Amino acid sequence: MLENLEIAQNPTLKVPTAEKYYYIETYGCQMNVYDSELIGSLLNKCGYHPTDDIKSADAIFLNTCAIREKAEETVHNKLDNLQSLKNIKPGLLLGVVGCMAQNLKDDLLESKPYIDVILGPDSYRKIPEIINNRNSMEHYVDTKLSKFEVYDDMFPSRREGINAWVSIMRGCDKFCTFCIVPFTRGRERSRSIDSIKGEVIKAVEQGFVEITLLGQNVNSYRTSGGNFSDLLEQVAQIKGIKRIRYTSPHPQDIDERLIRVMNKYPNICNHIHLPLQSGSDRILNRMNRTYTKKKFLDLVHMIRDIIPDCVLSTDIIVGFPGESDSEFNETLEVFKKVSFNFAFMFKYSSRPGTKASEYSDHISEGVKQKRLETLIKLQRDITLLENQKKYRKNCRCIG
Ligand code: SAH
Ligand code: SF4
Ligand code: F3S
Repeated sequence: MLENLEIAQNPTLKVPTAEKYYYIETYGCQMNVYDSELIGSLLNKCGYHPTDDIKSADAIFLNTCAIREKAEETVHNKLDNLQSLKNIKPGLLLGVVGCMAQNLKDDLLESKPYIDVILGPDSYRKIPEIINNRNSMEHYVDTKLSKFEVYDDMFPSRREGINAWVSIMRGCDKFCTFCIVPFTRGRERSRSIDSIKGEVIKAVEQGFVEITLLGQNVNSYRTSGGNFSDLLEQVAQIKGIKRIRYTSPHPQDIDERLIRVMNKYPNICNHIHLPLQSGSDRILNRMNRTYTKKKFLDLVHMIRDIIPDCVLSTDIIVGFPGESDSEFNETLEVFKKVSFNFAFMFKYSSRPGTKASEYSDHISEGVKQKRLETLIKLQRDITLLENQKKYRKNCRCIG
């Protein structure tokens, strides 16, 4: 009461308004985690505070993924559930952003007209304008992709933790025939080395001891100041970083220099996530993966020659259109040969708009499921074996 009286007598003092809160739910890959932190920093600048309680939020953003049909289904279900919240809180701002927003654009509004905002991954700078003009807008949709946007001048709002994600490039030019990412994230573009280093130094000052450099093809990183190996070497020299990781590299762009840089700096973790996708040359070619089984195996040998205890993980798709039993068996054989420490294994999911979705020889759900189960079982045994090897090596108690 006393405060309000003071304001009435002194009109230059601001009327205290209720605090505003935002809630962001993130789906998909680490790039989206990073982008949610960027969105968080923009909302902070608009005077909004983060909350973990979705019901008390004044603005809710779902940062979405489109990589597989299931990823989109999950968001559809979440949006269905949020409709009742929107009904009882009409002032609530509901935004759908990220890859599924980019992929479905206005179509989302047709089935869910209660969504207020739809933004693609290159449109996040619009957020302050949207928040400030909130009352004058019905819906706001922006899914323009940019050749240049790398959010270079922005610093993400990281909440607690040890690891800081740092996006070094955006987009993808590889056009693997199964993949929606080149359509949702646009063309490849890299941030400058200086701005990346500036962000890393700031994150280290804030107490982050681990840095993970991110990109859809992290090792396609290229600027006039250097390539990915140059960047990694410079980041490794920044004082105070205990661990550096990066994800995901494309096998095509891994060279010996990169592995030598990893070996040279003890703070770069001995782990490479090396997505194989298939062990069959015919399927790799149909996927437009640009390497053969032999080239992949040669790469593994080169890595292990230089860093013998390097942890290797991978991504694999089973049941890609036209994959025969014997071609699937080739994937099993490569798994046995390489002995990955762990693997992310997926059933092929047809994504409308991609080249593979138009192939005529799609595999039945039953066969895909069976192949996935076979591969998971094999990888479980391999992971156990690899873990036991590491445990024996690290533990002095057993011989
Ligand atoms: N840029 C990374 C992959 C990003 S997507 C790379 O090139 O490896 C992460 C993983 O999702 C891919 O490696 C692939 O295994 C899987 N994936 C992508 N599209 C898919 C689809 N249509 N169906 C099933 N899995 C898919
Ligand atoms: Fe998708 Fe291939 Fe690009 Fe990876 S390299 S994001 S799988 S198109
Ligand atoms: Fe999904 Fe987009 Fe990442 S499609 S995997 S959130 S780049």
